Amino acid sequence: MTAHDAVSIIGAKRDGGELSDAQIDWAVAAFTRGEMADEQMAALAMAIVLRGMNRRETARWTEAMLRSGRRLDFTDLPRPTVDKHSTGGVGDKITLPLAPLVAACGAAVPQLSGRGLGYTGGTLDKLESIPGWRADIDPGRMREILTDPAAGCVVCAAGADLAPADKRLYALRDTTGTVESIPLIASSIMSKKIAEGTAALVLDVKLGSGAFMRTREEAHALATAMVELGADAGVRTVALLTAMDSPLGRTAGNALEVAEALEVLAGGGPADIVELTLALAREMVALAGLDTDPAAALADGRAMDHWTAMIRAQGGDPGAPLPTAAHTETLSAPVSGTLTRLDARGVGIAAWRLGAGRARQGDPVQAAAGVQWHAAPGDPVTAGQPLLTLHTDTPEAFPRAFEALAEAITVETGSVDRPAPGPLVLDRVGTDAPRTGQHWSPHRGSGHPSARSGPGTGRLHPRPAADHEGNSR
Ligand code: URA
Repeated sequence: MTAHDAVSIIGAKRDGGELSDAQIDWAVAAFTRGEMADEQMAALAMAIVLRGMNRRETARWTEAMLRSGRRLDFTDLPRPTVDKHSTGGVGDKITLPLAPLVAACGAAVPQLSGRGLGYTGGTLDKLESIPGWRADIDPGRMREILTDPAAGCVVCAAGADLAPADKRLYALRDTTGTVESIPLIASSIMSKKIAEGTAALVLDVKLGSGAFMRTREEAHALATAMVELGADAGVRTVALLTAMDSPLGRTAGNALEVAEALEVLAGGGPADIVELTLALAREMVALAGLDTDPAAALADGRAMDHWTAMIRAQGGDPGAPLPTAAHTETLSAPVSGTLTRLDARGVGIAAWRLGAGRARQGDPVQAAAGVQWHAAPGDPVTAGQPLLTLHTDTPEAFPRAFEALAEAITVETGSVDRPAPGPLVLDRVGTDAPRTGQHWSPHRGSGHPSARSGPGTGRLHPRPAADHEGNSR
């Protein structure tokens, strides 16, 4: 094909046509090599946002992105591999206790993770607040840590050779209003997860004000598309749809969230973090074919032992004090009553403006910045009691952070029926109920039948332009 063919491919999708396998392969490969211009790929991405892609096209697009780089292979490890991916939420530090917990249950967890862009925070940014900890682990060292029975889990940065087509395409989509497409999001996430070489995958698809997906219908369609892509690629995949209207736990920030994860690993911590960690761990352990109770491994300290080994293996000092912010400010309850709303998105934007997140790829983040809340929705509060503490090294950030919180908090006076906390896990998309007692043996085939039927074209509902405003502080 020639550069001219890019125009006919764009036109075919613009007019609602289906792209052939050859057209998809050519477009993704030519874009990765720099032979298809950015403006042509941006036009094609926009046509896909508007017209969608069917299941075959989405699977082929994913395969083409996967083929643009290397695919890691851990099939010869002495333990079954399983990983988790979250679509991103405020206060979502679940990976930190989850990876060592699942390793403590007998699986190997090879997690290639990202840095945060926008207000939801990135796992690598959180872990980098631990003195000495390094995210750049090469595949050989990754294999050694995964094989080490004391650790068994790695959380590290994806190398440049892993799905490079997605790296280029995601950066382009981010600046051309073409992120909001279920086939493009699903293929972007799954091409990276399949490339990392895990045999099984549990997806945490967030749903609510602080998440990418605002409606249940969208979240279900995204989960279904990703479960199907996993099945097509031989990766056993299950998705949980989980609530993200209120932030998770009691903190949003980097070191603040590591401290909270340590509380969970020590047997305490906020109830919602413990509940979600265990729900995801049960799915992961079952998908790995292991018959172990994650709750026991959390309670008896085995998960903490694996955390300590993982942090050491990646150069960190698990006993070193975490950084603290140079400045803090408190927001107090304006009246006595009940805290009925703490909006995830407002809290996330406040933490980000305080310096916990970045506006542009490559910007530094502050390890100690963030927001800590002292009451959760449903809690009674007294006028003047501290509701939130804001942490930062740059005190000029306080006014804009307070602005983000102004609309995020509701305290109702008088007697308000204490709202029962809603369920955290809203739905599950996958083939089986969690299985136990099905033992894993090395080199077992990983193919699995696919999940519920496909989501059609996967076009997202239009949403407020503010959705990506997260990228300008
Ligand atoms: N995260 C990704 O990795 N890709 C997307 O397209 C959206 C979120």
